[in-house]
Amino acid sequence: MKRILTIFGTRPEAIKLCPLVRQLRLRPDEFSVKVCVTAQHREMLDHALEAFSVAPDYDLNLMQTRQTLADLTARILSAVEPVLKAEGPDLVVVQGDTTTTLAGALAAFYRRIPVAHVEAGLRTGDMAQPFPEEMNRVLTSRIAAWHFAPTARAAEALLREGTPRERIFVTGNTGVDAVIYVRDALDSGALRAPEWTWLEPGKHIILATSHRRENFGPGFASAMRGLARLAARPDVRIVYPVHRNPRAAGPAHAILAGLPNVTLLDPLPYAPFVDLMRRCRLILTDSGGIQEEGPSLGKPVLVMRKKTERPEGVEAGTVKLVGADEDRIVAEAGRLLDDPEEYARMTRIHNPYGDGHACERIAEALAGEFSVL
Ligand code: UD1
Ligand code: UDP
Repeated sequence: MKRILTIFGTRPEAIKLCPLVRQLRLRPDEFSVKVCVTAQHREMLDHALEAFSVAPDYDLNLMQTRQTLADLTARILSAVEPVLKAEGPDLVVVQGDTTTTLAGALAAFYRRIPVAHVEAGLRTGDMAQPFPEEMNRVLTSRIAAWHFAPTARAAEALLREGTPRERIFVTGNTGVDAVIYVRDALDSGALRAPEWTWLEPGKHIILATSHRRENFGPGFASAMRGLARLAARPDVRIVYPVHRNPRAAGPAHAILAGLPNVTLLDPLPYAPFVDLMRRCRLILTDSGGIQEEGPSLGKPVLVMRKKTERPEGVEAGTVKLVGADEDRIVAEAGRLLDDPEEYARMTRIHNPYGDGHACERIAEALAGEFSVL
């Protein structure tokens, strides 16, 4: 029996690790799996846990309003240590590139517990973009013993950095497993989304989200002005579930609240958000995970960032980088809305990031390779 402790804290980590927790629990003779949430996020994390019916074994409840990177890192290190001591797991699993990812991995390293990193090897090569996520990912790679790379490109980046080949597994992204699971559950009625009675049938939905730290300040305001200008079109409705980070929510509300054709919402639970992705005409976002989900649902994604650590969709032509520049946002979204050929080019269902079976591959790798530790 292999004793695994998963440590995660934010919405995207939960969306991408809960399907793995469920998969590992399908093999109770091989794995005992416990879940420790730092609650770096609170209600946004809880939404994701609910969508997958995962109840944490440890909830460190660490979120504070306007937490800083250093303070949160320190508090996670201190709070995780007693959990590691009490559980003494054979392996700690972390996901992605957040403060919880790095601090969870480091806490395990300090207790000499091997770490498996899910979604390993994504790189822009620029430590300032995304900030601080690029650094979090690079440091977590140095700590980890096992690397679950979503794509061949991510595996190549790890190999270039000297990661031993036998420690890398190309699995697909577990986020694609998540979105397919929820899409199918919506189709079967196992999960439900709201009726959205306020949506006007004649209008194109532009689904927007934004929260990247490197955009905070003038860049963020410029992106919001781009959305405001798009909302002047009578044929669109911008639906924008606003991230809870006050530095993202502040400018979003200041620039967009009350405009015609704009609906600002609280962060949505995962199933309603997936339903809106299915219904929308296009997505404008700086999110990492949504860049992966859009192509899986056949929706064009305009990414409000200068660089992406997920270039596979850009190369396939279904994801486009538009930066946080208002003119570019208005021009590129306008082109998609007005040019049917451009729209058709960007609207192909494909899965450059995974095929929906990543969790099975990770479970299989853990069942086999783990004995080497
Ligand atoms: C974090 C991650 C980022 C990830 C994003 C996903 C880091 C450094 N950043 O950014 O990589 O892409 O989550 O959304 O790890 N808040 C709430 N309720 C919530 C969540 C957040 O009120 O449920 C507010 C709090 O005031 C909190 C602030 O948002 O202090 C910032 O949260 P934090 O996790 O530090 O940063 P994010 O911008 O959410
Ligand atoms: N998401 C959600 N509700 C929302 C907005 C996003 O459930 O209101 C989901 C989205 O489908 C994706 C994940 O949250 O799976 C992305 O989270 P976020 O953009 O906060 O983080 P990132 O992926 O950029 O790290």
